[in-house]
Amino acid sequence: MNGAWNEEAAVGALGYIGIGVSSPEKWADFSALLGLMPGEPGPDGSIRYRMDECAWRIALHADDIDDCLYAGFDCGTQARFEAVLARIAKAGIAATRDEDLARVRGVMKLARLTDPDGVPLELYYGPRVVPEQPFRSPQPLSRFMTGANGLGHVIVNADDPAASAAFYRDVLGLSLSDRILFEAAPGVVIPLTFLHCNERHHSIAIAPRMPDSKRVHHLMLEVPGIDDVGFALDRVMAAGLEISATLGRHSNDRMISFYVRTPSGFEVEYGCEGLAVDRATWTVADHASISVWGHRRERI
Ligand SMILES: [Fe+2]
Repeated sequence: MNGAWNEEAAVGALGYIGIGVSSPEKWADFSALLGLMPGEPGPDGSIRYRMDECAWRIALHADDIDDCLYAGFDCGTQARFEAVLARIAKAGIAATRDEDLARVRGVMKLARLTDPDGVPLELYYGPRVVPEQPFRSPQPLSRFMTGANGLGHVIVNADDPAASAAFYRDVLGLSLSDRILFEAAPGVVIPLTFLHCNERHHSIAIAPRMPDSKRVHHLMLEVPGIDDVGFALDRVMAAGLEISATLGRHSNDRMISFYVRTPSGFEVEYGCEGLAVDRATWTVADHASISVWGHRRERI
């Protein structure tokens, strides 16, 4: 997939994520099973993992929240970074430029703000890349599908899904991919809104918050092919981890994936064959089902 930075005033990719974890030891084992490569620790004491030539994509912080601490959106260039900040200011939303945090994250410039649900977001450009230290997975995995399309996607649980979707679309400049209006029980429809900012079908999706749900429902990591998914499924099953959804193919992004429970309680989706959005021809749609086949789960 080739990346596409299509909008002048829009974020370009979900570039990194910070997670607060109560058990870094369990996460070390879990990360290895996923095929993540340990990187240099962060100056803030975080444990960092690589997925490609970027110095890091996932940071773990010792924190009992067991949830997302921050999500970073890469704006690609200074011009787009400034254009997005102008768009945010025009919307009357506060964003704070933070040179110190930029140094900690290892990016050129950074500004922080929160989404309508209080999820800390970081907008930036110029991440540190280390191609002289090639990515090498601890598993027989050639690569993750990242590049300009970012690290993957996250599904966030929102108290007011419509307000959150409007924020990501109208303020950060993501575009609607489609919706899934999923009937969880007779008469109970759960709306899921999917938004893209590059060729990846969605970098973020918005779900309504359930009782006791975390900020993040799941983090998706994409690998090149079905064998990479199958080998990972074998590994997590052999380790006795909970498969929260069985292998299946999603209806909208066509991803073939399974879901595994992380040591922090939320889920990781691990998949392949996610479709690439061609913005010139893309049309939005409503789906009635989450999956074409599979993805059986005991609980949402
Ligand atoms: Fe997903």
